[in-house]
Amino acid sequence: MTRSSGSPVSPIAPVASERLLIRPSGPLRGTAVVNGAKNAALPIMAACLLTDEPSIIERVPHVTDVVTMIEILRQLGVSVSFADGRLSVAPGRYTGTAAPYDLVSRMRASVCVLGPLLTRQGKAQVSMPGGCVIGPRPIDLHLKGLQALGAAFTIEHGYVVGTASGLRGGRVQLGGAFGSSVLATANVMMAATLAEGVTTIEQAACEPEVVDLAHCLIGMGARIEGQGGPVIRVEGVSRLRGAHHRIIPDRIESGTLMIAAAMVGGDLTLEGARAEHLGAVIDKLAEAEVVIEKLDSALRVRAAHPPRAVEITTLPFPGFPTDLQAQMMALMAVGRGVSVLTEKVYPERFMHIGELNRMGAAITREGSSAIVKGVERLSGAPVNGSDLRASAALLLAGMCAENQTELTGVEHLKRGYQNLEEQLVRLGADIQRIS
Ligand code: EPZ
Repeated sequence: MTRSSGSPVSPIAPVASERLLIRPSGPLRGTAVVNGAKNAALPIMAACLLTDEPSIIERVPHVTDVVTMIEILRQLGVSVSFADGRLSVAPGRYTGTAAPYDLVSRMRASVCVLGPLLTRQGKAQVSMPGGCVIGPRPIDLHLKGLQALGAAFTIEHGYVVGTASGLRGGRVQLGGAFGSSVLATANVMMAATLAEGVTTIEQAACEPEVVDLAHCLIGMGARIEGQGGPVIRVEGVSRLRGAHHRIIPDRIESGTLMIAAAMVGGDLTLEGARAEHLGAVIDKLAEAEVVIEKLDSALRVRAAHPPRAVEITTLPFPGFPTDLQAQMMALMAVGRGVSVLTEKVYPERFMHIGELNRMGAAITREGSSAIVKGVERLSGAPVNGSDLRASAALLLAGMCAENQTELTGVEHLKRGYQNLEEQLVRLGADIQRIS
């Protein structure tokens, strides 16, 4: 396997011993600029493998997951450089077909190189992604979809090994027990762009990140329609040109900042936040009596008192996003009344309940639901973030807890947030990073 060159990307994975000291904060005031969406950037970086021409991707967030994906591309023999949000990818005639265990085990999203490698190289080896704290992370829908296009898979020594002698378009069903799959839709859509004939993906994921990937692929010369809906049609072409694409703003970062303002009060303007990506979130925050105003290219969020309790069920887009469930639970922990949060995408995604209860929250789990009795005030405590969104939720909780909260597991935050704590400090939060 030839590892390509490329200037080293500044490491951002903080040392695991780093902690955040969070004190009562707020109200938050001012403007924050929303970064590019990690979950759009990752599949779009994989899409650069579909051509040997160079690609330029703008507004790529500087987060650990992006750095991991850069490493995977380099391991495949692709030259990558990254600075100030601008990613330059020069695949050339790369020959690699394997995404190694140590990188895939760090980031499950590595699985989205399967589709591009199979359709371009006819071979792909990706380590079986392990489970993670939010629950099992199967890839059966990915394999089912790619098999429908003619790929064959074996499992060898913990690796999924795929082969394909020229993919052919077909009809693919991607509905699973928990709805569609975002990255399986991405994998099949990317593979279909160079397959022979027409592919129809039924029960496709409708997330904005899938739409952004489709727009990027269309800019490369792919023929795709229906993206954003449950049926996507792809007509294969013989080759694609390099991408020139600007990543959409991160709706989960936007939602996290909106919930922060709802928790500690304030008047916050989110530059770049898109209302059409946050319909369910805006609806639920409005129900909780948070005032949200749609501006030209921003959202304004105002809150002056504790939120009213709401009932939330997480669902695939356009439903309430599972990636904001933990943050919403932190908000409801200081809400007026009893809230119920039901998790339909990852029913095990409740690691944050125990940590929030250590801070004085009153949350009980009933299967895939959490009953949250709002309390007057949380109390600061040492807590540990188990995953990316749980760490964000505990950071927000610390901002509206008495005394001081010491948050470990900070390395998870950097996986998906370029500068969350810096943004919050600039808006008035009292957060200190200590090693
Ligand atoms: C994407 O993961 C996001 N990650 C996740 O964000 C997000 O939570 C998830 O979509 C749901 O919105 C990226 O885009 C990089 P899925 P993905 O396949 O595509 C089951 C974050 O915090 N399933 O849509 O891996 C699966 O177990 C991360 O940024 C199968 O059963 O999620 C889950 O219950 C966390 N078989 C549901 O479908 C499969 O083959 C949705 O998973 C694939 C998935």
